[in-house]
Amino acid sequence: MSRHATTDPARICVTNAKGGTGKTTVAINVAGALNDRGRDVLFVDLDPQGNATEGLGLTDAYDAQPPTLFDALTRDPSLLGDLVVEHEEMDVIPSSIDMLQAEHELTIADLIARIRTQDHGVDPAALAGFALNVTPETVTGDHALDTLDRALSTVSGYDYVIIDSPPFYGKLTDTGVFAAGHILIPALAEATSERAIELLMDQMAAMERQTGTTVGTLGVVANRIETTSEDEMMLEWFDAAFPDSPVWEVRKRVALQRAYTEGKSIFATDERCDMAEVFSDVAATFDEQFGYTEVTA
Ligand SMILES: Nc1ncnc2c1ncn2[C@@H]1O[C@H](COP(=O)(O)OP(=O)(O)OP(=O)(O)O)[C@@H](O)[C@H]1O
Ligand SMILES: [Mg+2]
Repeated sequence: MSRHATTDPARICVTNAKGGTGKTTVAINVAGALNDRGRDVLFVDLDPQGNATEGLGLTDAYDAQPPTLFDALTRDPSLLGDLVVEHEEMDVIPSSIDMLQAEHELTIADLIARIRTQDHGVDPAALAGFALNVTPETVTGDHALDTLDRALSTVSGYDYVIIDSPPFYGKLTDTGVFAAGHILIPALAEATSERAIELLMDQMAAMERQTGTTVGTLGVVANRIETTSEDEMMLEWFDAAFPDSPVWEVRKRVALQRAYTEGKSIFATDERCDMAEVFSDVAATFDEQFGYTEVTA
C-alpha cells in the first residue's frame, strides 16, 4: 500500500557547505522528479541567497514583507503554513532577504539554550537584547536547532519535504539537517570535494552529539561530471567513501541551467534532458526507501 499522504512526510536536506556544488539544482530537480511520480512536495529554501526561490520563479516572494521564513524560524514556527507559495510542480516556502539575519539569531538562540542547560549563571534575557526575534520564550528545548522541525510539524498534506541549504557550516544548515534527519550530498568530481565531505561528516557528527539524533545519508550526487580522468578518480573516491549509499552521476548539461532560468525543473520544460533519467532514479530510490510503493502519477 502506498504511504501517500497518510503519514508524516519524508524530509530530505540537500547539503554541502562547499559553494556551487549543485545543491539548488539537485534539490529543484529531485523535487521535480518526485512530483513527476505523483508525489506532493513541499520545497523549503533555507538559503539566504534565495537561489532556489529565484530558480523557481518566485523572486517577488523573496522580497515579501514580514512575516517570512526568518520569523517562522526565530519567533513563531506556526507561521510556516501561511508562507506557502504555489508552483506548478511543488509548494514552496521561499527564502527571504530577512534570512541574512537568521544565522545571527539562531546563534543567540543556541547560546540561550546552552546557558539554560549548563547553568552558566547568566540571565538568558540579557542575550535576547542582541536579537531581533529570539527571546528565552522562543527557545523551548535543550537545544535551539529544532525550529524548522517544529515549523514543519504544523503543515500537512505532503509526501516529501525537500530542503535546500546554504553553502556554509552553521546553525541554519544544522537546523535544516535536524529537521530532515536525512541528507543528500551534491558534490563536484574534483579533489576539493574530499575535504568538503570530510568536514560535512564532522559537522553531522557534532550535530548528532548535540541533539542526540542520527542523520542518515541517502546518497551522493556527483554533479557536473565530464569525461576526464580526474572525474573518474573522484567517482571512485565517492564510491569508496560511501560504500553503503548510492552515488548518482549527473553530467554537465546546459538544459539544467535553462530549466533554472525558466523557473522550473527539467521535468516541466519542453526541452528533453537525458539527466531526467538520473533524477527519476533518485526519486524512485527515495520512494522505495521511504515506503511509497505505488506510482500515483
Ligand atoms: N549538472 C550541471 N550541468 C550544468 N550546470 C550545472 C549543473 N549543476 C549545476 N549547474 C550550474 O552550476 C551553478 C551552481 O549550481 P547551484 O546553484 O545548483 O549550486 P549550489 O550548490 O546550490 O550553489 P550555492 O553553494 O551558491 O548554494 C549554477 O549556475 C547551475 O546552473
Ligand atoms: Mg544553492
